[in-house]
Amino acid sequence: MEAIQITNILYLVSAIAFILGIKRLSHPKTARSGNLLSSLGMLIAVIATLTYPGKEFDFTLILSGVAIGTVIGLIFATRVQMTEMPQMVAIFNGLGGAASAFVASSEFLSSPDSPFIIVCLSVFIGSLTFTGSFVAFGKLQGFISGRAITFKGQQVTNAIIALLSVSIILAPGLFFESSIYAGYLNAFYIVIVLALLLGVGLTIPIGGADMPVVISLLNSYSGIAAAATGFLLGNNALIISGSLVGASGLILTNIMCKGMNRSLANVIFGAVGSETSSAGSTQQEMNIKSYSTTEAAMILDAAEKIIIVPGYGLAVAQAQHVAREVADTLEAQGKKVLYAIHPVAGRMPGHMNVLLAEANVSYDVLKDLDEINPEFEDCDVALILGANDVVNPAARHDESSPIYGMPILNVDKSRTVIINKRSMNPGFAGVQNELFGYDNSIMVFGDAKDMLNDLLKEIKEL
Ligand code: TAP
Repeated sequence: MEAIQITNILYLVSAIAFILGIKRLSHPKTARSGNLLSSLGMLIAVIATLTYPGKEFDFTLILSGVAIGTVIGLIFATRVQMTEMPQMVAIFNGLGGAASAFVASSEFLSSPDSPFIIVCLSVFIGSLTFTGSFVAFGKLQGFISGRAITFKGQQVTNAIIALLSVSIILAPGLFFESSIYAGYLNAFYIVIVLALLLGVGLTIPIGGADMPVVISLLNSYSGIAAAATGFLLGNNALIISGSLVGASGLILTNIMCKGMNRSLANVIFGAVGSETSSAGSTQQEMNIKSYSTTEAAMILDAAEKIIIVPGYGLAVAQAQHVAREVADTLEAQGKKVLYAIHPVAGRMPGHMNVLLAEANVSYDVLKDLDEINPEFEDCDVALILGANDVVNPAARHDESSPIYGMPILNVDKSRTVIINKRSMNPGFAGVQNELFGYDNSIMVFGDAKDMLNDLLKEIKEL
């Protein structure tokens, strides 16, 4: 067997490992092994590339890069909180896009006869992903305003930049002296500049609340850039893995949009979150009833069926373990306890499932939106822990609300709704929640972990 055939077989094995790995990532039970399998696939692809027949590599340079990357990766992997995962993915995407653009650039600069369209496609998408991802990171990390930053003529400006870029990529001869390398070189540089501008231009008008969707979309772009670079280099592994990232990023984007009942166009061009929306009742108009944990414990004591609704705040407080202890204690007292999982609760798909799995909550009691909504009708207490937008009834009836149309957990149908959060501050979407003023709602203010620890003591004593 020829050496190149062995390389291609190794690439095929790595592609199979990627596909099976992604499949396993779709369930919390198999996700860890899926991650491991995909990593193994990547290791095989790297080995196959570094032993590519006829290629010479500067191993000192490569191993230095591997060492630096490993240290940075290890630091981030151990330090980054689950709630900061979207920011981390944004950085990954940005660097992935930049890497594809760099590889394509070096290929073009070292061999000018490389296919110009493919070079530019890789460089264009890679550069756009780079700046777009770093703007998304800045918004989520609070380095720049999380609000949608808009100005007059913004979309027209973006459209002109996009159109100009596509025209230069497809017909550089129209703009520059054709068939002269120097002319195409200028076209190449201008495409990079336009793409960097477009990445910023497309991301700043999107509100922080929509950033996870944008990050997933940029993830898809980084895959497309990698696949384009794969075509340029004639590297099968890069084509396959880039296409997988491109497709799965797009599927994830679609899942999130569905979870919010919004179109992708509305997320990208809707500028939701440009100002704190006045939609929904103001705090003054609402009849807020603040209860102590002792009173909440007494309500729970009288309940038979309780549904726990976890949200972003539970993740921030790292209160998943004590939440499970509360649930276990209530169950030991003969009550039925379920968990309601909204598809976009938290900051990333599956965030709540992973959080609760970490606390050993059985998958059988985690119910998704369609399954749990009918259960609220005969539920005694809905216990909301740091969730806000995903339980806002305005999504069902208030057309002026930015979250109108988003499927929500119908917690308000329960006999009593106990809401735990620290203040009356709004959630991610920036709107006040009318649920807090409903007759059957009571608020128990405080950090979720502290509140649940107090509640646990109280219910154990009853
Ligand atoms: P949010 O609406 O963001 O509400 C979380 C609430 O947690 C806040 O109101 C906050 O109120 C409270 N909180 C924060 N820290 C807390 C702590 N230590 N203890 C107790 N409470 C705390 O969260 P959600 O209901 O999970 O909704 C998710 C949002 O993200 C939705 O708007 C959704 O559209 C958006 N989104 C999610 C995704 C995915 S895939 N998950 C994707 C795109 C968009 P206080 O500050 O008063 O405590």
